[in-house]
Amino acid sequence: MDVREAIRSRRSINFFDPGRRIPEGVLEEVIEEANLAPSSFNLQPWEVVVVKDPEDKRRLRECAFNQPKVEEASAVLIVASDPMAVERHIDRVLKSMVELGYMKAEDVERTRPMPFNLYGEMDSERRRLFAVKNASLFAMSLMIAAMGHGLSTHPMDGFNESKVKEAFGIPGRFVIPMLIAVGYLRDGVTLLPRGLRRPLEEFVHLGRFSPKD
Ligand SMILES: Cc1cc2nc3c(=O)[nH]c(=O)nc-3n(C[C@H](O)[C@H](O)[C@H](O)COP(=O)(O)O)c2cc1C
Repeated sequence: MDVREAIRSRRSINFFDPGRRIPEGVLEEVIEEANLAPSSFNLQPWEVVVVKDPEDKRRLRECAFNQPKVEEASAVLIVASDPMAVERHIDRVLKSMVELGYMKAEDVERTRPMPFNLYGEMDSERRRLFAVKNASLFAMSLMIAAMGHGLSTHPMDGFNESKVKEAFGIPGRFVIPMLIAVGYLRDGVTLLPRGLRRPLEEFVHLGRFSPKD
């Protein structure tokens, strides 16, 4: 499947086949491909909790307003993101940039403060936005990669973040931009037509923003 087809055929699936397992290694490949998503300063703040065990899915469903797909999908991924990834990853990223020829060793000291200046203090809104933006790109890449492996997905914001963190041992500072159910469409289910999309002329602005309503 090419990337255009993957994008055009992706749908948020409500009716997963609860009896199907994802073959060994496939989810790992999907995550590996999603991990190629771009990120600010290449800081990769995302973390993924893979929830496959039936009892864990039941617990997660309780945190997700009882949405049945959480239990029915073959796996549900908790996409979490660390606002502290700046501190945690910057030195490793800069070191690799020097090793790979992106940067000279003498430029490291000058570059290191940049993400700290851009994203501010740990508890700032900019830090949370940094975490959410980058993990959302990871999540979208993951849904497209899943299509390429014949897997359907469903992103979800309908969950209680504190409960998910508590139930799955995720530290308080993390943000959870979304859960993603992954699996196979149940046999015999016919999808409704694709949901409304706003026409381009409503939201594409040429040259400068112009209010259209
Ligand atoms: C961040 C995000 C959160 C969402 N949360 C939920 C959710 O909790 N429950 C649900 O049924 N659908 C959820 N959706 C799915 C949307 O309703 C769906 O993407 C939209 O209707 C368009 O349909 P499509 O993805 O099939 O094109 C979410 C989608 C996104 C991107």
